Amino acid sequence: MTTQQANAQEVPLLKSYIGGQWVAGSTGELYPDINPATGELLANTSVAGAAEVDQAVQKAQDAFRQWRALPAPRRGEILFRAAQLIRERKEALAQLMSREMGKVLFEARGEVQEAIDEFFYMAGEGRRLFGFTTPSEMPDKFACCVRDPVGVVGLITPWNFPVAVPSWKLSPALIAGNTIVWKPAEDTPMVALEFARLLEEAGLPPGVVNVVLGPGPATGAPLVEHPGVRVIAFTGSTATGTFIATEGARRGKRVLLEMGGKNAITVMDDADLDLAVEGILWSAFGTSGQRCTAASRLIVHRKVVDELTERLVAEAPRLRIGNPLDEGTQIGPIVNQKQLERVHRYTGIGMEEGARLLCGGETYTEGDCAKGFFYRPTLFADVRPDMRIAQEEIFGPTAVMISVDSLEEAIAVNNDTPYGLSSSIYTRDINRAMRAARDLTTGIVYINHGTTGAEVHLPFGGTRGTGNGHREAAVQALDAFTEWKAIYVDYSGRLQRAQIDT
Ligand code: UN1
Repeated sequence: MTTQQANAQEVPLLKSYIGGQWVAGSTGELYPDINPATGELLANTSVAGAAEVDQAVQKAQDAFRQWRALPAPRRGEILFRAAQLIRERKEALAQLMSREMGKVLFEARGEVQEAIDEFFYMAGEGRRLFGFTTPSEMPDKFACCVRDPVGVVGLITPWNFPVAVPSWKLSPALIAGNTIVWKPAEDTPMVALEFARLLEEAGLPPGVVNVVLGPGPATGAPLVEHPGVRVIAFTGSTATGTFIATEGARRGKRVLLEMGGKNAITVMDDADLDLAVEGILWSAFGTSGQRCTAASRLIVHRKVVDELTERLVAEAPRLRIGNPLDEGTQIGPIVNQKQLERVHRYTGIGMEEGARLLCGGETYTEGDCAKGFFYRPTLFADVRPDMRIAQEEIFGPTAVMISVDSLEEAIAVNNDTPYGLSSSIYTRDINRAMRAARDLTTGIVYINHGTTGAEVHLPFGGTRGTGNGHREAAVQALDAFTEWKAIYVDYSGRLQRAQIDT
């Protein structure tokens, strides 16, 4: 749909939320918000530009003084109240998310639960935010270290987890005393606005969280470039992340990146194959493969490859594709036409590379699904580890099978991609499991479990091209949004020179 067509229809107009006020975008552009299951236009976004970003940063700067001065346990109470409100509105948020980006309802509910968990967790941090003390090298001198907020933080978040991923960034940034300008994905503006308003209802003063709406070039770029924003926390594509890292570095900003994945499930010859099949179907095809943790490679011991293939080829086409709001649906749509085309392009690439298509490989257009952007679960066999379909992130319901002869070979194949987010191994042998846990070089390792299912009190993030060393969620997320301040208190009553008067 073009902007002009979007313009012509009578649907809600979404504006940015700045300092507690609705603000239309000065770009004069509209961006359509489309239900990917039906093609229906849900709303139009009034696209914010540099002027609104600047206004939002100013509001966040003003709010910072008050917010950082509020004792952290009080900030924690507001986050706690937010968690309660999210819990009360779990169903409504899940349904809205499902309509806006196509996640099937039971998964959408799980995602909202992740936000609830994260907000409760970070609310508790209000009474910890631990620093440390350490002995001084001088007598009558005290030394300690505390966490300080950084200031105004810019968040750029994706459409595939439009509630959970922002929560991983919002809640630690807020509990630490920062204020925020948040640019949610252009495909999920409504759920973001609902979320921001809920935070204010929980007691967050206006200006502490500001939402600027629009696509990356119009709205995200001015946020990255703004001198008043000290930290940019981003989850999304490697291409955008690389742009942000470059621009951020030029401006001396702290940049946190969580980008792609090419996660693998290894199935050894001693694995419980029933368990492995379930884990693979869930990890490869859940959220239509649109997770950064999706299992897009299956590394299978040659002794069980035929049996596993047979089972997967029988099971994958049975997954119920359909409207994500129908309770029985297991596979919803791809988020938009562009992504659908990308997923299908990779099917073509796989075939050109000589991989064998086992099932899927085409759009799904039965009944009403013809109006949306659906793709069949797709499996490739006879895949070499160096093929593009085994190296590049597809972000769709496509998994590729690679055969190996040993644990060592499986680990080497697993580790040989540009990404390093999560990996999994199915084996009944504790020795093999422990060796894999030691030698798999991803940020997350699962044993006898698929590649997806992170819990909020463990750090989330990856090695290599997945990120730049930061972690989200858990207590580690605080490192991203705080400065360490070292404080020395000399109570000797005289000049004591460190390193000299010792
Ligand atoms: C993402 O895909 O960006 O572990 C986040 C998981 C989810 C979060 C995924 N809890 O797959």
